[in-house]
Amino acid sequence: MQMKKQEKVFDPKEPNLLYSFLSDTSLNYSRIKVIMNNLYNGGTDSTAKNLMVLLFNLARNPEKQEKLHEEILAVLGTEEPLSKDSLARMPYLKACLRESFRLINPTAMSAIRVLHHDTVIRGYRIPAGVSVAYSTYKSSRENFVDPEQYIPERWLRGEKQKREEESHILANIPFGYGARGCLGRWFAEQEIYLATVKVSS
Ligand code: HEM
Repeated sequence: MQMKKQEKVFDPKEPNLLYSFLSDTSLNYSRIKVIMNNLYNGGTDSTAKNLMVLLFNLARNPEKQEKLHEEILAVLGTEEPLSKDSLARMPYLKACLRESFRLINPTAMSAIRVLHHDTVIRGYRIPAGVSVAYSTYKSSRENFVDPEQYIPERWLRGEKQKREEESHILANIPFGYGARGCLGRWFAEQEIYLATVKVSS
């Protein structure tokens, strides 16, 4: 693509994301590499693998699978089409995915940050420039009761008290956090919900 750009054999009017990045003088090569890697990895691998893991967790826990099946039937019946509104009435489906992310995250270590200043976190001095990775695996084990069990109920509002006791808002962040959090989150979650409902109904 860079050669084509230098030789001016590429039509800049043709829609092409990589070409537009290469033509953008505010982006250096290493930034472009990071963005392209994120789009490829994020856009393909992660959604498919997390869907696979959710179905695996449901298959290993038939009583949860049955509960989800009942919710889907109760909302959709035999007539109602699957829509944004009907998905909004499926809290157990969302809890099942959230719990699946907590128990087994096949793709991501979650957020990684390079600190600009020397920082002390829990007694550890971290020099500026060092990459710090948040381990979603460790956090998902240390901050939850019965961490090896698949318990979607811990994410339900009705179980609020239990939920507050068991977790912290940042204890499970499969899509990272803050300004650099996952851009495709809503898209990926929607895809996983749709596929799960179709398989289960
Ligand atoms: C289940 C599916 C997915 C998971 C678990 C996931 C997870 C993540 C995580 C952990 C990050 C780093 C966030 C941080 O550092 O705070 C991230 C970043 C990103 N994700 Fe996803 N992702 C998923 C799907 C997708 C999809 C479908 C797309 C694109 C359509 C996407 C695009 C991106 C992009 C562009 C970034 C970089 C954001 C930035 O650096 O500003 N992701 N994702």
